[in-house]
Amino acid sequence: MIPDKAPKEDVFHGSEDLKKEAHINSFEKYKELYMKSIENPDEFWGDIAKDFFWKTKHTGQFLDYNFDVTKGEIFVKCMEGASTNISYNLLDRNVHERKLSDKVAFYWEGNEPGDELTVTYRELLQRVCQFANVLKSQGVKKGDRVSIYMPMVVELVVAMLACVRIGAVHSIVFAGFSAESLCERIMDSQCSLLITADGFYRGDKLINLKLLADEALQKCRDKGFPVEKCIMLKHLSKEAEETSLGSQSPPAKRSCPDLQEKQTGRVKKTRPVPQVPWNPEVDLCWHTLIRGASDECEPEWCESEDPLFILYTSGSTGKPKGVLHTVSGYMLYTATTFKLVFDYQPDDVYWCTADIGWITGHSYITYGPLANGATSVLFEGLPTYPDISRMWEIVDKYHVTKFYTAPTAIRLLMKYGSEPVQKYKRESLKVLGTVGEPINPEAWQWYYNVVGERRCPVVDTFWQTETGGHVLTPLPAATPMKPGSATFPFFGVVPAILNESGEELEGPSEGYLVFKQPWPGVMRTVYGNHQRFETTYFKKFPGFYVTGDGCRRDKDGYYWITGRIDDMLNVSGHLLSTAEVESALVEHEAVAEAAVVGRPHPVKGESLYCFVTLADGVTYNRTLEAELKKQVREKIGAIATPDYIQNAPGLPKTRSGKIMRRVLRKIACDERDLGDISTLADCSVVEQLFQNRCYTAE
Ligand code: WTA
Repeated sequence: MIPDKAPKEDVFHGSEDLKKEAHINSFEKYKELYMKSIENPDEFWGDIAKDFFWKTKHTGQFLDYNFDVTKGEIFVKCMEGASTNISYNLLDRNVHERKLSDKVAFYWEGNEPGDELTVTYRELLQRVCQFANVLKSQGVKKGDRVSIYMPMVVELVVAMLACVRIGAVHSIVFAGFSAESLCERIMDSQCSLLITADGFYRGDKLINLKLLADEALQKCRDKGFPVEKCIMLKHLSKEAEETSLGSQSPPAKRSCPDLQEKQTGRVKKTRPVPQVPWNPEVDLCWHTLIRGASDECEPEWCESEDPLFILYTSGSTGKPKGVLHTVSGYMLYTATTFKLVFDYQPDDVYWCTADIGWITGHSYITYGPLANGATSVLFEGLPTYPDISRMWEIVDKYHVTKFYTAPTAIRLLMKYGSEPVQKYKRESLKVLGTVGEPINPEAWQWYYNVVGERRCPVVDTFWQTETGGHVLTPLPAATPMKPGSATFPFFGVVPAILNESGEELEGPSEGYLVFKQPWPGVMRTVYGNHQRFETTYFKKFPGFYVTGDGCRRDKDGYYWITGRIDDMLNVSGHLLSTAEVESALVEHEAVAEAAVVGRPHPVKGESLYCFVTLADGVTYNRTLEAELKKQVREKIGAIATPDYIQNAPGLPKTRSGKIMRRVLRKIACDERDLGDISTLADCSVVEQLFQNRCYTAE
């Protein structure tokens, strides 16, 4: 339970200035509202829902659910009977009712300094309607799945909200994923159309997105799932025609018709751009399609529990899970968490550095901020390009007030000291946020002291793709902060800590983090596999949603996430399953068996340490090592590239043949204290592995 009084020692407080205007400005007020959200959710959420537009009102209770597998099927229903459209609430409501038509929705800041665009709410509404009409003209209907594989450009938001406008379900695949991963996701959700772009730059590196998209579609075709349409946005300029990609690229069949068109002008610096292969039977040009499309489009009214989007997240079995979110609950939850966790005020300029391809970008670049009529920065580039001060340069350029990033980015920048930060003023900053992994107290202190100059509270937000929005988090002007703790539950969220036997622990304790009841934004199912949803999250401890994270509660009731307790790794804030990386490795003919564990990394949080047992007659060498890294990159994506690969003639196994990962983790870290290894079939394997450890990662 939440303590009556906040602790006074070893805590940090939000500034008095912030408290003056804040929505929730004291711990007592937080506690009072929290109790209301638990004891009377209908009234709590009902009041919030009044701010939104409903075509029809809900009937019955606000939330109906079953969280107990022993009592039947797991389900969550929120606001049954209500119908609405999220794009209407995010755009039309802001333009027409709140008179925000000329307010900036996004400041787009390109990879290259100087590449920029400003989009107002009115323009965004027009562009969304226009593209929604395009999708309709291509035969996309309510309930159809549309796959989106795009860089961080305004058109990505346009594409997702155009789907929402017509009731289609978007499935966004992060543009850093490989063709294989894209193919797998397209097939799993049976998407009828793909939206992509010619390419983009990440720092100095050109990513030929269309080539990857084509490769993915070819794989889909080979597997008997032809996707008939692919819409390509021309993000890079018209020089596409003149510049050849070099010998690796397949010859272009024909180029996108509108590449002849006058350049749109946003990518100013002349750089090599991809020559785009063009298959006239499948490919459609974004720019040709929108020409002449009307910028008015009546929204499709959707039921509360109609699907909104699918977003894939790693699963511990290796196969990604299509997390499904639905309309009303997700809208209310992301809007409310955004407003209260960042203490959103109308004159804020908010910047979340995540990619929209992840849940953080879905909830806190698109849905939450737009629902509040906020102005956001949408950044295409990297924190280190063209130099290490880029983030702070952008903060000053747009007068960013609320800033949200990942611990891995903070640790990276911290390595360069305070000077690159102090080159810029950062006076506008009011609240700092983090997400993605536990933040180590040292990084927290640096963020708080150097970036925020002890003026800005740090909201350490714990949540998951599955939770839709923040579930454990401080409120900036109400919750005293402890560096490294995600503090207390958000409204409507009831956490508990269980021991291995499923008993609920009271007071200071450590164990499995679970939730006792749903909140509006929790996922509803794994797309196409409800059984997997129940098995993954509800079977281990009947009656609870199991997060898969370990957690400690201290004497003051604060929650501290201790990390994953399943076979998942968190690399730079991205979850990866060890099984997924292992299966990519064993697909190589030289590998007989593979076992992957996490090894702590000063910037990435965790790095991938892979043990491989080679097939008979194969010898280990640098060429093979490079091939294996490439193999994983191509199967999954660059984020999964192994940091270390160790040749392991044998793996530590129990007599029943189970690999003891606990022992492998110790070997990866060169820790000799192995604990009890009496169940190992052959102890000599361990010594051999210690002797051949990898000392340097490349
Ligand atoms: C981890 C990202 C500690 C956690 C929004 C969770 C965190 C997983 C935090 C979900 C945090 C996220 N403190 N750990 N503030 N935020 N995590 O689905 O292990 O990409 O289960 O969602 O990230 O990752 P996902």
